[in-house]
Amino acid sequence: MDNNQLFEPYDLGGIVLANRIVMAPMTRSRSANPDTVATDLTTRYYQQRATAGLIITEGTFVSPQAIGVINVPGIYTPLQIDSWKKVTDAVHREGGKIVAQLWHTGAYSHPDLHGGKKPLAPSSVNPNQQVFTPEGFKPTE
Ligand SMILES: Cc1cc2nc3c(=O)[nH]c(=O)nc-3n(C[C@H](O)[C@H](O)[C@H](O)COP(=O)(O)O)c2cc1C
Repeated sequence: MDNNQLFEPYDLGGIVLANRIVMAPMTRSRSANPDTVATDLTTRYYQQRATAGLIITEGTFVSPQAIGVINVPGIYTPLQIDSWKKVTDAVHREGGKIVAQLWHTGAYSHPDLHGGKKPLAPSSVNPNQQVFTPEGFKPTE
């Protein structure tokens, strides 16, 4: 592929991208609000990047049990879904395409994020990682 092709449209399984540049998902942790909704800042952030052919959003939690980082916008309540619609509308207005990265952190979480209960995970193996909690980084259990 030469450089010219990078700026050519691409048909990604029916989603026609304006070019072949894809923005990687990056957690921003900017939803420090009680409902962990995407904010006006979230909308502006993605709108500013809408000239990429495709944006993959930051990982967004699919349920309360999926949470493993503070201040990440979820996508499981009506309020959260509406907040993401503002983001996707803004990106579409700029001619961009956007898909959500769905996220469940499994054991890579901490009881402090689940009212003291152990995180729900496919196995009981401790991944030995650091978790971003309201009180700073804490080790997984
Ligand atoms: C601040 C930051 C946040 C990230 N958040 C996510 C994420 O939410 N989901 C994900 O799959 N990868 C995440 N990543 C990984 C990036 O998507 C990854 O760096 C990229 O795909 C690989 O490109 P690179 O090798 O040029 O860094 C994150 C990376 C950074 C630096």
